[in-house]
Order: sequence, then structure tokens, then C-alpha cells
Amino acid sequence: MAEAWTPEGWRAKPIAQVPAYVDLAGLEAVEARISSYPPLVFAGEARNLKQGLARVAAGEAFLLQGGDCAEAFAEHHPDNIRDLFRVFLQMAVVLTFAGGMPVLKVGRIAGQFAKPRSSPFEKAGEVELPSYRGDIINGIDFDPDSRNPDPGRIEMAYRQSAATLNLLRAFAQGGYANLDHVHQWTLGFVSESPQGHRYQEIADRISEAMAFMRACGINPDSVAALRSTDFFTSHEALLLGYEQAMTRVDSTSGAWYATSGHMVWIGDRTRQPDHGHVEYCRGIANPIGLKCGPSLEPDGLLELVDILNPDNEPGRLTLICRFGAGNVIDRLPALVRAIEREGRSVVWSCDPMHGNTIKAANGYKTRPFELILQEVENFFSVHRTESTHPGGVHIEMTGKNVTECTGGAREISEADLKDRYHTHCDPRLNADQSLELAFLIAELLKRDRREQGHRQPAAMGM
Ligand code: PEP
Ligand code: CO
Repeated sequence: MAEAWTPEGWRAKPIAQVPAYVDLAGLEAVEARISSYPPLVFAGEARNLKQGLARVAAGEAFLLQGGDCAEAFAEHHPDNIRDLFRVFLQMAVVLTFAGGMPVLKVGRIAGQFAKPRSSPFEKAGEVELPSYRGDIINGIDFDPDSRNPDPGRIEMAYRQSAATLNLLRAFAQGGYANLDHVHQWTLGFVSESPQGHRYQEIADRISEAMAFMRACGINPDSVAALRSTDFFTSHEALLLGYEQAMTRVDSTSGAWYATSGHMVWIGDRTRQPDHGHVEYCRGIANPIGLKCGPSLEPDGLLELVDILNPDNEPGRLTLICRFGAGNVIDRLPALVRAIEREGRSVVWSCDPMHGNTIKAANGYKTRPFELILQEVENFFSVHRTESTHPGGVHIEMTGKNVTECTGGAREISEADLKDRYHTHCDPRLNADQSLELAFLIAELLKRDRREQGHRQPAAMGM
């Protein structure tokens, strides 16, 4: 029998990655205030996402999850939200049209503010300061004041999440995602790139199909799926004081839900089965992600699956694999076989970012695009061999024309990284690279579907 669960039960467990707050009274006061604020998302929406993920687990849809490594207060601008949303729509068009798969869209957004760090301290010359842990905790500037955890930031993060989500809801439901606008989602700097041209061709064909359907009496006014889309939010459930304050009982089902985002995930550094982060996540009814890094063994995975999804509910658990391109073929098959052997329902997702981070000769943290593609290809190839569904990808991306990951069709070099390196944490794919990745995945999906022929994709809207 599992122990009874309460939203604060995690506090009695060991825990990693905890910021050293000095102002404990201030922290308690903020958490108390936030626990009476409106929820950011509703339980019914989280349940809808879970149903969508259950279709992904069944091989009938594809999960596209992505966004910033870390959202930042200084980047809180409607254009950034709009541009990420546009790339999402474009990638979804490519995957749905070229890959023949309905796409479930989940942003790393409206709450992705807390970061786990490999070292608690950062050194510059002789000066050592606490590491930056994300804008919800401390500031990125390298001075003692900014690096001191400030409870007031939690409230700022809550409010930024609310405003971001408000705009996302408007974009998703208010006409922006109407398929009649498929040509207008292209960002200026993408329109002249090779990916931009490939996208243009697909958009032309969609417009033709729309004209045909219109002539048959089917149009965005009559069919909601043609004029709007579903867009969900997600973040790492790392700062548990905040998560606890946002945890509420759903009056319909009587279950506890995290209302800070539709889906939350457990990071690779905080997935110890007896620790606080797993304890918190096991008790909320939202869809949960679990980062699976190269140190996770099949038995360790099954133990976590038992804790996090004891009833084997489809859509509840997404395994986000982030091994590094060279480790996928070695590490993934044993995990897939263990899950299959035990008859567990999971979504398999590939995070090709976090296992492929390197330091360029000039000091920039970067990720070679070839390795990112290679990890995705290896992930698909393992699932093809094991006859399981490569359910989705989890990527760090932005709609901006940044130079953070090397390679891609525009051949960003290490020397180019300094030009537009804006991330607050890990290097992200820019809009061009994201689209290029979507074309590759579409090819892989199409190949798998040709070979397996029998799976009937679920209608999910665009
Ligand atoms: C992240 O997703 O930004 C992250 C820190 O990932 P991981 O826990 O897999 O290292
Ligand atoms: Co990251």
C-alpha cells in the first residue's frame, strides 16, 4: 500500500537542488499568498491533455513539447510568445501534413522558471557565488545581491505565467491558428531559408485543400478544428514550495491537481524514488514527465513507474529520454523492453538536447545540430526495432533568430555563437533549426507509417 499523500508531504523527504533562502519568513509569506491566488490551469484541461497523451501512447498521435530552457523576466514580451507559438504551428503543420500524424502541442512555457544546476556555485576569477537557478529563484547577474534567492521572484513568476498563458489562450482559440492563415505563420527571417521554402510548398497545398473543402461546404466557420487549436503548458516541477502553493483539489473529481501548468516533469537530477520531487508528483493527477538520463537502469525505471503510475493509466506518464546521441542505442532498448515486458503504458519522448551539450573552444555552451538529429534518428530506430511508438520530442527552442546551437542549413559556426546568444540557460534551436528538425521527424514518421500501415491516426485537429 502506498503511503497517504498530502501536498506538503514532500517536505519530510530528502531533496536535491534546493535554493538556500535566507529570508525564510518572506518565503513562507509568499507561499501563503500564492496558495489563495487563482489557478493558472484547470483540472479538466489537464485531463484533456492526458487523453491526448493516451492517444500518443497508443501510437495514434505525436507529442511536440518545446520552448525555452528557462523563461526570463527580461524576455517577457508578446513578440517572443507569438514567435514561439508560430514555430509550433509550423512544426505541427509539417508533422501533420508531411508525417501524417496529429500533433499534441505542449509548450515549455508559462511556468518554466526554475533550473537544476550541476554545481551549486559558479566561479569567475577569484569570486565564487551561488549559481543562477532561474528567475523564479535568483538573478542571472554575477553579483552577490542578484544571486541571493529572493522570495518576491516567486510572485513575479506566477504573474508572468498568468499573462503568458492568457496570450497563448488567445492565440490558440482567437483565430490566429486558423488554417486559412497557414502562410502567415512564417517568420520574416525564415521565409528566405531552405526550410522556409519547403514550408511554403506545404502551405500552398494546404491552402488548395482548404479551397476544395470550402467548395464542399467545410470551412473554419463550420469546423472548430480548422480555426483553433489546443495548446498546453508544461514546466519542471522543481521549486516545490511554489508547486505546493498551486496544488488544489478539483471539485469535479476530488483529486489533487498542480494548477501551475497542465503537465509537469521530474528532472534527471531529482528523480530519486525516495526524494521530495517524486513524492510530490506521485500525488497530483496531472500528466507527469520523467527525464530519463544515461544513469537510469531498467529496474530503477520500473520502480519509478510503479510509484508514479501505479494504476497503469494511459497518458499519465511520459518518459523523456535524454541520453546523448551516442548512448541511445546502448541505453534505450533495455528500458523499452522492461516497460513492454511489464505491460506498462507510457509515452516515449526524445529530448535530443540535454545529452548533447558541449563547450565550444570559445567558451560558449552549445549543441551541434547534427548530434540533435542523430539522437532523434537513433531514438526512432530503436523503437522501430522494438515495434514500439516513438511518441514525441521534447526540445529547447525559440521563435527568435538566435545563434546558440551550431550547424543546421544556415551552418552556424562556433564563431557565430556570439552574434545572438540570448539564452538564460541552455542553448536553444532557432526557428530555422526547429523547422528543419520537424521535416526530419516527418520523414521518419512517414517511413514508419508506410512500413506499419495498419495504425489509424486519431483526429485531433491541427
Ligand atoms: C531541462 O529540461 O532544462 C533540464 C534541466 O533537463 P534534465 O533534467 O534532463 O537535465
Ligand atoms: Co535545459
